[in-house]
Amino acid sequence: MNNFTLNTPTKILFGNGQIANLAREIPANARILITYGGGSIKKNGVLDQVLKALEGRPVFQFAGIEPNPTYETLMKAVEVVKAEKIDFLLAVGGGSVADGTKFIAAAARYTAAADPWDILLTTGAKVSSAVPMGCVLTLPATGSESNNGAVISRASSGDKLPFFSPWTYPVFAVLDPVTTYSLPPRQIANGIVDAFVHTVEQYLTYPAEGKVQDRFSEGLLLTLIEEGPRALAEPENYAVRANVMWSATQALNGLIGAGVPQDWTTHMLGHELTAMHGLDHAQTLAVVLPSVLQYKKEQKRAKLLQYAERVWNLREGTEDQRIDQAIQATRAFFEQLGVRTRMADYGLDGSSIPAMIAKLKEHGSTALGEHRDITLEDSQRILEAAR
Ligand code: NZQ
Ligand code: ZN
Repeated sequence: MNNFTLNTPTKILFGNGQIANLAREIPANARILITYGGGSIKKNGVLDQVLKALEGRPVFQFAGIEPNPTYETLMKAVEVVKAEKIDFLLAVGGGSVADGTKFIAAAARYTAAADPWDILLTTGAKVSSAVPMGCVLTLPATGSESNNGAVISRASSGDKLPFFSPWTYPVFAVLDPVTTYSLPPRQIANGIVDAFVHTVEQYLTYPAEGKVQDRFSEGLLLTLIEEGPRALAEPENYAVRANVMWSATQALNGLIGAGVPQDWTTHMLGHELTAMHGLDHAQTLAVVLPSVLQYKKEQKRAKLLQYAERVWNLREGTEDQRIDQAIQATRAFFEQLGVRTRMADYGLDGSSIPAMIAKLKEHGSTALGEHRDITLEDSQRILEAAR
């Protein structure tokens, strides 16, 4: 196991009715900006619950943070933060709202460059302050509610880039599984795939004697396999939604990745697919992951065999057969949830692959994977095999 420093400072308020308790997590005199997306929180009553909990506080609202949040929209919120002297941000929504709010929080206090897009160009390294924020999560998927990362798009340039900063951990996150009942099947499926792939990116590398991390990861994968289809079949089953929600948070709050190698190739290639073609984040992961696993089969052999046995209960046949069956089972799981796994399923013929590779190069993603040995040529082959 490698050395690690783990800090997961976000306080979690988990369960039905917890939105009512959020006011005590926000300083009493704070001027609060509620940030949200296209309006789902108005339809499902979550905004009303939040406003009730904050009754009597100075509350402002910023709506319209889109899926794959854009710099262009978020900079408008930065203006509101400055004009209204906001000192607490409350993100209410999915990963896009949480991510977008992290950017707003950091951009409003950014001094290292005139244009806060610099935060993305420097992956957050120069962020030295941020407006504190909390989160009311309505879509279990990204883990953004309790990690320090965000992925921001820039419509004008076709870029989608991540940043990380110790300043952008949400102070608290409210996770009420009931808020997820209104999710359309596509989004619940997306969330399960995203959480699954987050786990795989931190697990399916090479053995590092991280027995605790491995078994935590396997527990999350088994839970998602068990509860994912049920979450679609029984949308108001509280226990199922609670397990999905907690799995998604745990999949990317730092715990399972501490002290072990990590991959993230699937995410980096996936972000280019979203930036160029607008696919949902999880759709890109479902397309790319099987191809990455197949392409890196030799380097990942030991962990693929462990994955086959412990997650998919595959114990018969040769090593290669078990590995192929495990990759096939992964693909079939995504398809079972309704998330298609080939570029062609989304009307893409692969002709844009060279342009995506050029963007990867521009973004410095020239040595990906747990061994940093996935070159641009390898990424090209991985994408070609995903057609
Ligand atoms: O905008 P509204 O109207 O709220 O509708 C949203 C949106 O259209 C809807 N929705 C959310 N909660 C709902 C709901 N509809 C009904 N009922 C509810 N309870 O769902 C749609 C998608 O929302 P979005 O926030 O975009 O989805 P998700 O949570 O999957 O977030 C995806 C974004 O997170 C980034 C992705 O790249 C993508 O931009 N990621 C962030 C990560 C992080 N910070 O650690 C890691 C991830 O790997 C990922 O890259
Ligand atoms: Zn993801």
